[in-house]
Amino acid sequence: MNVGIDQIGFYTPSYYLDLRDLAHARNEDPNKYLIGIGQERQAVPPASQDAVTMAANAAVQVVTPENRERISLIIFGTESGVDNSKSGAIYLQQLLGLKREARAFEIKQACYGATAGLQMAKDFVAAHPEQEALVVGADVARYGLGTPGEVTQGCGAIAMTISANPRTLAISPNSSVYSDDIMDFWRPLDHTVALVDGHYSNDIYQQFFQKTIHAYCEQQQTNLTDFQALTFHLPYSKLGLKALRTILPEVNEAHQQQWLTEFESSRVYNRQVGNLYTGSLYLSLLSLLDHAQGLTSGNQIGLFSYGSGAQGEFFAGTLQSEFQNSNRRKQIDEMLARRQRLDVNQYEEFFTQWPTFNTANVTIDPEPDDAEFVFTGVVDNKRQYRQR
Ligand code: HMG
Repeated sequence: MNVGIDQIGFYTPSYYLDLRDLAHARNEDPNKYLIGIGQERQAVPPASQDAVTMAANAAVQVVTPENRERISLIIFGTESGVDNSKSGAIYLQQLLGLKREARAFEIKQACYGATAGLQMAKDFVAAHPEQEALVVGADVARYGLGTPGEVTQGCGAIAMTISANPRTLAISPNSSVYSDDIMDFWRPLDHTVALVDGHYSNDIYQQFFQKTIHAYCEQQQTNLTDFQALTFHLPYSKLGLKALRTILPEVNEAHQQQWLTEFESSRVYNRQVGNLYTGSLYLSLLSLLDHAQGLTSGNQIGLFSYGSGAQGEFFAGTLQSEFQNSNRRKQIDEMLARRQRLDVNQYEEFFTQWPTFNTANVTIDPEPDDAEFVFTGVVDNKRQYRQR
């Protein structure tokens, strides 16, 4: 029996910063951002969007009358949690009206949280094939105004239903993992922006990729050429390309070209949105599914997940018969096209007004935000959410 991703939903807020504008404001050559970093636009959250609302806006796309009653595991991967105690999964369950006979919790290991959730959900469904799991990855990537990491910010959420006989991607039963105590990126409890040793983090990411992909091939007795495409956690899209280039010499020229072509397909959405932290690998997967040049069902793709601190994992997925979905692609194209462009002053205002974690009482006007689920403020230290 195959187990894996049945449906994928994606949400990103309706504002963005054009990185050419940011380059001019920061006295950088725009090509450093567009080519050197590989990003074009960056999603910017309004005060009415947080990890919970973004997760709900993504999850509502994949919870249907058919699967609603089967969802008995809800895993919320995030490093942008809204409470030190209560999990985002419980808020999500309430907002979506999911059944109460469910296990619902939040999981954190930097950008790796959604992969931990996916793997746990896969094992759960393998043991209980009549049930399904909802796994979300939702985050706001924040480094600070004028910092080197600023160009790699972004935000959004991915939601995936995990089921037996999935329509999109069957996940390999095995994977290779590697973890170590690394201070490449972290966020102390009282910080609202990440601390990062940027160049070191790039090196560790590539080392973990090398270790896990080769360990996977060895342990599973598989060849690199068995993968028709490779997808990566993309904090910024150039980093995936750098990792890919490290293993190109290990395959022939035709295969190199195929991987490079499909890599371009896998970064179309990420270039427009920026880093989603936990959701980034799955946004890249979605981008590949929606823009693949030469993939067909039955093809095998490799997925590399990385979360700073650090955890790496490489695993495989087999494309299923309905991996392409023209409605989903149309909706994403429309969502990205109707976003409003902020100038740098507006972006800086949005940035400083978000988040509002240290206020016991605050009212947020959600009116300008066209999302279905919005955050409307804090009353007596309790966050308030609304569905329109
Ligand atoms: P930087 O020092 O400003 O950039 O920071 P740079 O000087 O290294 O330049 C970047 C690239 O642009 C270089 O290319 C330049 O040559 C090129 P590379 O050597 O990398 O191939 N460049 C140009 N290209 C074309 N035209 C030009 C031009 N000028 C320069 N005119 C850095 C870059 C990524 C370090 C910074 O933005 C940063 O610290 N970002 C945040 C950290 C990060 O994203 N790390 C990624 C690995 S860790 C990870 O993935 C986990 C994470 O998602 C968090 C989590 O797990 O929760 C971050």
